[in-house]
Amino acid sequence: MDDRAGAATATAGAAGRFATRIFSGIQPSGGLTLGNYLGALKRFVQKQEEGIEAIYCLVDLHAVTVWQDPARLRANTREAAAAFLAAGVDPARSLLFNQCQVSAHAELAWIFNCVARMGWLGRMTQFKEKAGKDREAASVGLFAYPNLMAADIMVYHATHVPVGEDQKQHLELTRDIAIKFNHDFGTDFFPVVEPIIEGAATRVMSLRDGTRKMSKSDPSDMSRINLADDADTIAQKIRKARTDPLPLPESLAALDGRPEARNLVNIYAALADLAPEAVLGEFAGRGFDAFKPRLADLAVAVLAPISARMAGHLSDPAGIDRLLGEGAARAEAIARPILEATFAIMGMIRSRRG
Ligand code: AMP
Ligand code: TRP
Repeated sequence: MDDRAGAATATAGAAGRFATRIFSGIQPSGGLTLGNYLGALKRFVQKQEEGIEAIYCLVDLHAVTVWQDPARLRANTREAAAAFLAAGVDPARSLLFNQCQVSAHAELAWIFNCVARMGWLGRMTQFKEKAGKDREAASVGLFAYPNLMAADIMVYHATHVPVGEDQKQHLELTRDIAIKFNHDFGTDFFPVVEPIIEGAATRVMSLRDGTRKMSKSDPSDMSRINLADDADTIAQKIRKARTDPLPLPESLAALDGRPEARNLVNIYAALADLAPEAVLGEFAGRGFDAFKPRLADLAVAVLAPISARMAGHLSDPAGIDRLLGEGAARAEAIARPILEATFAIMGMIRSRRG
């Protein structure tokens, strides 16, 4: 049984009687970007430093909802693990592992496949975007993706999920699944999670098009800054980033309709831990010829040590694999009793021992 049931209520609101526990995931479907760093990783480390129990997962089962070359998937999983460590996630304090090593995720996802409704999933914008015009050709996994995400979170009774803005709709669905399961079985077994979407960089945009999200799957490498990029590449990408000819304004509102300018200001703010208004306070009236070199210097100062530490971790792939295995064993110890309790609530017989 869930030994956390009845644990001290550390949070107000929908998560109710459950102790605060964070879960978040990143797909190892490519090298991580500045968007992943500012929208997710950097905030994961902040949560860890606040002393909150946190579980971080490289969601390989999610990655394979679209085609992944096996050798690339293996390399990308290790690279993502190295990025977590390099950014400051400490495996002694936070759990770090890859999803396929804890089978409880996939098992609970099946249960949620039977709770969520086709109509709910059909409304997911990420599915519509990723499936494109030919939905008949999309994998079943891509459609059911949010149910697995809900299982990732709920198999730990996590209460809070730090993510970028693009995951908001998936977390609403996660809440709907918890509410429906609890209602159908007359229980309050699953917490209704709270998303944590905060800071200046909840949606870092492409350097080539300020209306599109910076993404590891964008075909243009110039559209993104990769955590593994060297200093020259970072500086060159910022120099070539699309902008407009106007100087930076005094107020944030004046950036409406200037998505590229707004994006670079937000990136500067997030990297410097400033409010975007403070960045404008410093640069108002100046053009991008002045702003871009300063942004490039700042980005290099923040990212170069991370990419150097990543390279260090990547020189020991066996060490990374060992660490992921240890994290998975600890994760399994939390997840298994929650999964067993779920089966019991549903009337499933689990009499096998050993
Ligand atoms: P993904 O790379 O899609 O697995 O995303 C992993 C995490 O990074 C999620 O919390 C996303 O919301 C976040 N993320 C991804 N891209 C961006 C972006 N361009 N801006 C902010 N957050 C992002
Ligand atoms: N869907 C998320 C993304 O693409 C990754 C993810 C999978 C996740 N499971 C999760 C994020 C659970 C938060 C919590 O960004």
